[in-house]
Amino acid sequence: MPILKNISQLATCPANNPQGDAGLLEDSVLVWRGDHIEWVGRAADLPTRFHGEAVTDCGGRLVVPGLVDCHTHLCFGGWRGDEFAQRLAGASYQDIAAAGGGIMRTVTATRAASSGDLERTAMGHLAHMLRLGVTTVECKSGYGLNYDTELKQLHVYRTLAERQPVSLVATYLGGHVLPREFRQDREGYLRLVCESVLPTVTRNGLAEFCDVFIEEGAFTANEARVILSRAQELGLGLKVHADQLSDGGGARLAAEMGAVSAEHLEYVGPDGVRALAEAGVVAVSLPLASLYLKERYIPARSLIEAGVRVAVATDFNPGSAPSYHLPLAMTLACLNQNMTPAEALMGATAYAARAIGRGERIGSLQAGYLADIAIIDAPDVNHWLYHFRDNACTGVIKSGKWVHT
Ligand code: NIG
Ligand code: FE
Repeated sequence: MPILKNISQLATCPANNPQGDAGLLEDSVLVWRGDHIEWVGRAADLPTRFHGEAVTDCGGRLVVPGLVDCHTHLCFGGWRGDEFAQRLAGASYQDIAAAGGGIMRTVTATRAASSGDLERTAMGHLAHMLRLGVTTVECKSGYGLNYDTELKQLHVYRTLAERQPVSLVATYLGGHVLPREFRQDREGYLRLVCESVLPTVTRNGLAEFCDVFIEEGAFTANEARVILSRAQELGLGLKVHADQLSDGGGARLAAEMGAVSAEHLEYVGPDGVRALAEAGVVAVSLPLASLYLKERYIPARSLIEAGVRVAVATDFNPGSAPSYHLPLAMTLACLNQNMTPAEALMGATAYAARAIGRGERIGSLQAGYLADIAIIDAPDVNHWLYHFRDNACTGVIKSGKWVHT
């Protein structure tokens, strides 16, 4: 049984802890067996049955659960750096989309890309994410918006799940925006999603969740209800891109439908906050999207005070959040969402795991959980998220195996 010792601070991140309590232990030891954690505690309390096992000295570093990026759009064709420049010159995200850029431009590029190219590019991103300490990634479709390309994206995720160590959790986002060819026929698109794509997705086990973008220029809450009801009927968990650029009732709908998470929420109002709290929906904050769109940040303090769990994720995509750097998103959550480092850590581990229905298996360092572990070159969580570096992660264990040293 391998052992990690000489850990200056170990964050156990128990799933049921309040956001501010990351279960921090000083001077601790972690033991795992096969793919799961066997024992965690103070060095002085290590049971004698573990003495003599293979020990790795962490050199007085921080040890945290493998990070969980619970919201990404990982598979896409092409980039949109020119739109970044246009936004800096004053154009809005919505202006660019209305002029034919934005999400639809990535749809065109993703439709044209081969599965092999999409796989190679996403595989490269995953390799970098793993080295940052990320061991699980939620990944959405939504750049196909027709039968073939939505399925192509989801098949890319299935292939990648088999070919590299990061665990992937796929989400069908056919309700991202209305594809151009359906501009005159919104109902026709809803029929395609509900009667054709969703049944194929679930029959082939290609996704665990269904997500819809509720926004002006995307889908209304009523249209989202149609898609999400059908997804629920077919056995998928629900997620909602809610209240990102305006309060469109997304949070309230997520609560009403029993979604596992509501994501973005930059414009969520007090009634939305209350609804999320009452329904136990996880709020997924995406501070990189706020940074890049020069938009407001999620009201994390109001959410936490209301009893809502706030996860932190990257939203990695070629438009609003062109970075997969989850530790950077966590530092931004501290600086701009007024979250403490411990809260940001809970948000990128235990609560992120809950946002993808994995709260009982990953995101915490406790006996019985999967041995997904990141070793961070910092004495504690505060220092890690304060002293931002390209990569402070010096070791990653995924399902009990060393995958980065
Ligand atoms: O989460 N809000 C909608 N979708 C993505 C952006 C996608 C894009 O710009 O390509 C988001 O921000
Ligand atoms: Fe997103």
